[in-house]
Amino acid sequence: MLIPREKISEILNTSDIVDIISERVILKKSGLNHFGLCPFHSEKTPSFSVSSQKQIFHCFGCNTGGNVFSFLMKYHKISFPEAVKMVAARYNIKIKITSISPEVRKVLNFKEGLFKLNNKVMEYYCQNFLKSKKAVNAQKYLKKRGITRETIILFNIGYSEKSWDALSFFLRKIKFDNNIIEKSGLVIPRKKGNSYYDRFRDRIMFPIHDINMQATGFGGRVMDDSMPKYLNSPETPVYSKSRILYGLHISKQYCRQKDLVYIVEGYFDFLSLYQHKIKNVVASLGTALTTEHVRLLKGYASKMVLVFDSDDAGINASKKSINTFIKEGIEVKILILPRGYDPDSFIFKYGKQSFEEIAGRAMAIIPFLTETAIEKYDLSVEGKINILNEMKPHLAQIKDNVARSLYIKELSHRLDIDEKAVLEKVRQEHAKYLGQKTNIQFNKQPLKKSNTDNISDRREMQILSIMLQYPGVITQIKKRNILSFFYSKRLRKIGELIEEFENFDEIVIADIIARAQSNEDRELIAYLSMMEIPETHNILEKSIFLMNRIIKIKNESENILMNKIKKAQQASDFELSFELLRQKKKEIQKFRGYE
Ligand code: UTP
Ligand code: MN
Repeated sequence: MLIPREKISEILNTSDIVDIISERVILKKSGLNHFGLCPFHSEKTPSFSVSSQKQIFHCFGCNTGGNVFSFLMKYHKISFPEAVKMVAARYNIKIKITSISPEVRKVLNFKEGLFKLNNKVMEYYCQNFLKSKKAVNAQKYLKKRGITRETIILFNIGYSEKSWDALSFFLRKIKFDNNIIEKSGLVIPRKKGNSYYDRFRDRIMFPIHDINMQATGFGGRVMDDSMPKYLNSPETPVYSKSRILYGLHISKQYCRQKDLVYIVEGYFDFLSLYQHKIKNVVASLGTALTTEHVRLLKGYASKMVLVFDSDDAGINASKKSINTFIKEGIEVKILILPRGYDPDSFIFKYGKQSFEEIAGRAMAIIPFLTETAIEKYDLSVEGKINILNEMKPHLAQIKDNVARSLYIKELSHRLDIDEKAVLEKVRQEHAKYLGQKTNIQFNKQPLKKSNTDNISDRREMQILSIMLQYPGVITQIKKRNILSFFYSKRLRKIGELIEEFENFDEIVIADIIARAQSNEDRELIAYLSMMEIPETHNILEKSIFLMNRIIKIKNESENILMNKIKKAQQASDFELSFELLRQKKKEIQKFRGYE
């Protein structure tokens, strides 16, 4: 363990997993637990549960689970020490990581360095914008576009001056590691010599934050018609455009309040809506939305509206994102603005009320696709065939059978074709889709499958489950030394983690999870802690019954083998007895976990 065990326990004792997760997933209390839509797989009904009492989470749908650290690791795609630091920072706990390995240290420092550098550069660009004489044009430009000083400050908008090395010079002055400077992508190495030139020159700078409020990258706009209009940070270890949405760090609270988020394309679309008091908005920055974007968003709102320009580019962009929403089971609505407008120009011209009015008339996905296809082709026989071909992959992706058949009905009605014909087309497509899907799910569930296939594993799991959920009986269980009878080495190890605890009354499941060796084990412990134990009216009786079975089976299988060996020896069949002895040795080895 890289961080002292006591420190980890302290952090686990101070933090509350419900707090941390509910900042990222919409949770509702139901009985003892909190439930929400799982951020790790697509689902329509909540099977993701968080236990405040046990300080763990477990998804009954995809079997992901663990303590607060496992959650953050998976959610933010970060390492264990990073997750520990994140929780510690959230609760103002100071940690020194002393015995950390050099490689891990390097990665940690590297990412932290990048964040620090980005934040410094953000301040630098902001100061430039607000104070420098050279920023007069930039100030005029934002004024012309109606962006107020308040907005500029809230979103840390800045200016990169017209120079090849102003930023490079600044970075050298504040003494950042060259490797970090280079990886930030804010400067580019010159072909000759070992100096850099600035990537962003004479541009309005928009920092892009993650939901932890850290600056991860930048976008920069020119102030005239030169190309490219926008330039962005390249992908770095802390900036990935498939995972980040512009403005969410500020707008997330408003998305929660309204349970609705408007998804726009550009920086100015975002800022203009925000300034007009439509604060539940994010910008996708011109890229098609990914599964990660949608899963991130569903932690803040269940209703989503895609707002796009009415030009072909806008419509195509929204089409690219649509399948992601269908796959994730999110009923997104699509708002196409009147011709010639983008959200920015629309809201400045017509205001908040008009925007909300047309937003109220946003179309659901299938009607939207149908209407745009009809516009593209026409309602001739040939046109209808084309429309149907274009629609069928979308319809086939809809998992919900009722929704799918309703849409099919609607489409056949709109096109005036026999419903059965549409159904048949979609069925062929759907069969293809299902084939792919089951494979994925099969691979995702090796844990439960391999373990419940085996009866002895199942009994052993039940014993562990009892130990975790009813620590009062651990002393009785430990007395019988039941772990030494376990067939599964993996389950025995988990049992040992539980028995290691000095005081069983104070057992902390999240702490046991922290001590587990692998991610798979952490998930398994979370599962065992939430697993329902059948016939639990008398838990001690139940565990004694289970233990008796485990011991009896163990002894029986050993006796059978012993008898066989005895018989073979009596019959002087040395070859057979030798073979059986080998088998027994192997059995013992397996049993002791040498295999
Ligand atoms: P748009 O071309 O629709 O620009 O690109 P816009 O947002 O309306 O910009 P203004 O109003 O002219 O200032 C939408 C988004 O696509 C990304 C940017 O994030 C932009 O906000 N984009 C666009 C680029 O990354 N590079 C480009 O060259 C153009
Ligand atoms: Mn625009």
